[in-house]
Amino acid sequence: MTFRAPKGTDDILPPVSRTWRRLLLTWEDWAARYGYELVLTPLFEATEVFARGTGEGTEVVQKQMYTFEDKGGRSLTLRPEGTPSVVRAFLEAGADGILKAAYWGPMFRYERPQAGRRRQFYQIDVEYLGSREAAADAEVIELGYRYLIDASVPGLSVQINSIGDRECRPAYLEVLKEYLESRRDVLCDDSLLRLTTNPMRVLDCKICAPKLSDAPSPVDYLCDACTTHYGEVRSILRELGVPFEATPRLVRGLDYYERTAFEYVATDLKAAQNAVGGGGRYDGLAELLGGRPVPGVGFALGLDRIVLTLGDVEEPNPLDLYIIVTAGRRREALRFTSELRRSGIRADLDVESRSVKAQFRAADRRGAAGALVIGDEWSEGRVVAKDLASGHQEIIRIEEVEAWTRRL
Ligand code: HAM
Repeated sequence: MTFRAPKGTDDILPPVSRTWRRLLLTWEDWAARYGYELVLTPLFEATEVFARGTGEGTEVVQKQMYTFEDKGGRSLTLRPEGTPSVVRAFLEAGADGILKAAYWGPMFRYERPQAGRRRQFYQIDVEYLGSREAAADAEVIELGYRYLIDASVPGLSVQINSIGDRECRPAYLEVLKEYLESRRDVLCDDSLLRLTTNPMRVLDCKICAPKLSDAPSPVDYLCDACTTHYGEVRSILRELGVPFEATPRLVRGLDYYERTAFEYVATDLKAAQNAVGGGGRYDGLAELLGGRPVPGVGFALGLDRIVLTLGDVEEPNPLDLYIIVTAGRRREALRFTSELRRSGIRADLDVESRSVKAQFRAADRRGAAGALVIGDEWSEGRVVAKDLASGHQEIIRIEEVEAWTRRL
């Protein structure tokens, strides 16, 4: 009997995993540059955290959660997203002031699997908690944009909108419902259901949206405070040099958003799933979780989708040095490789005692910059050093190896 990874999940192995690693290392750098700190929360939470946080009206909660009872009879859910968890952690810690959280990891949603839509998928996230200022929205949007550009996502477009807040949204929803009622005949079955539970989501329906181009937009019904906030977000983004498209019909799939909503779209990606990330402001989420009001804004980027946009480029896993071991010098080679590694050099060697020729071939395959042969010269304190790019070979003293390698 052979086992396969569960449907909708992936094993991410080399060489593909090299791209993932590069994306994560680049991410660590960008998050640190903007002052975000690591926050880790459990991969599962009490089901209520998502039922209340992500929202009963969302597809995620209604259809996609991996919910189970543990041996103590508690209802737990594998996290379908991280935002409610981080807000829960902030409230539980009795934290105050500002928290700029960055994290990444697997999320779980029971979806119909396809390219870019997985049951276990990976997100890169930030949450900026504790500020209502438009500058926080703009900073978050900028960070995602700069990172995705650095990650080389082709055809990137930043789409933003304001979907109003608790003050102005009810009036908009009335107008929208009235409009949708008048268009019942063109709505699909899902949209007919959403008409009562979550009418804004109808604007997001791939089947219905093209037929609803004259639907009222949330931006036309914003209260003064939301209008000012949205204007400021856009003007700061211009100041920061972040190109964006104001997209009046952009809505998001999660209930907690108010005011700013945005998506990063890889317009070159032919797949249906071309939203490589999305986020927005969620000033009411902490209260939904039973806490005191804590404003917040954040985003999540879909790593699986980012990798899809990059296509099939095979990335190297470059080594500085490949150590070639000759008969009788195995111990010396192991010890010397360990020393090199401790001094910060990326070095590897063959433990299989293969022929020197086979080891040179491995050095090339591994993309090493140089190769060292630990052979007869070792007893005189020397090694053969070969620059694998130029083919130039020389004998150098062991003490010179580090400096020689750094010149490669
Ligand atoms: P979301 O729009 O549900 O937002 O997901 C964000 C991104 O995760 C999507 O744009 C997509 O790239 C990726 N994604 C979602 N579902 C899947 C899937 N099944 N397979 C592959 N990729 C997927 C959130 O999750 C919010 N927590 C974002 C946020 C953070 N808002 C504020 N702070």
